[in-house]
Amino acid sequence: MLVYLNGRLVEKANAAVSVDDRGFLFGDGVYEVIRVCDGRPFEAGAHLERLATGLAALEIPGLAPGELPGLLDVALELVQRNELARGDATIYLQVTRGAAPRTHAFPPASTPPTIYIATAPLTRPHALHEHGAVAITTPDVRWARCDIKSVNLLPNVLAKQQAVQAGAAEAIFVRDGAITDAASSNVFAVIDDELRTPPLTNYLLPGVTRRVVLDLAAELGLAVREQPIFVRDLPRAAELFVTATTVDVLPVRQLDGRAVGAGVLGPVTRRLQAAFAERLAGAVRAGAA
Ligand SMILES: Cc1ncc(COP(=O)(O)O)c(C=O)c1O
Repeated sequence: MLVYLNGRLVEKANAAVSVDDRGFLFGDGVYEVIRVCDGRPFEAGAHLERLATGLAALEIPGLAPGELPGLLDVALELVQRNELARGDATIYLQVTRGAAPRTHAFPPASTPPTIYIATAPLTRPHALHEHGAVAITTPDVRWARCDIKSVNLLPNVLAKQQAVQAGAAEAIFVRDGAITDAASSNVFAVIDDELRTPPLTNYLLPGVTRRVVLDLAAELGLAVREQPIFVRDLPRAAELFVTATTVDVLPVRQLDGRAVGAGVLGPVTRRLQAAFAERLAGAVRAGAA
């Protein structure tokens, strides 16, 4: 398996990052995960835009937004060379502030960023898509810049582990009585016949899949509100689902041990899953044209 590291394609087993790398020492970096279907990237523009926003927010120099499409080309070459051009795969792209003697403040702006790209096959959780996943809620103890896709994922790691130990697939974060997002996804609910998802704030990641689902919901003529989902609203939720690059639209059938709605895949979730699959297939066809 080949990866890209700082300008070179190398065997993954031979790729080495300095122990002084600020990603390793401080979690000082950002990343993206991009879906690839039959060799075609899905929503690559939105991912690169979010990456550029994250780099700017962290003031990581040395990688201009205009250089990001070139990195995508490298990533797509990796997809080919790693024989992942058939079926589902992901691109992982990470940029850190580079390697420098350990001190909290930024190193000189001339410090080159560390740029890493890897690819992997993607196994979509078909059974969960059909029958729904189990989820838990957990207090959102993350920082106040969850809108940045930082590699600093410790609260997300701990929350996901808590979910796994509870026999669940996802942990949904709750801050001040309202859902923000989840350990690795955004959250939607059907409440009072409306599709609801929390509005974008600094307390949640602006998910690329979230945006696509909101667009699809509008196209389908669904009543949609970007409005807080409070924990007290959840008993009225007829449907609940999470969205992310690696899972698309993943229904949640049970939350904190209680069935959501009728406990089966709801009609809104099903329509959005179908619309999403159609959008993805269309993007692949357009890319192939
Ligand atoms: C905390 C968090 N929220 C939401 C998402 C979903 O984002 P996207 O749809 O861009 O993959 C992710 C994806 O990893 C995430 O880590």
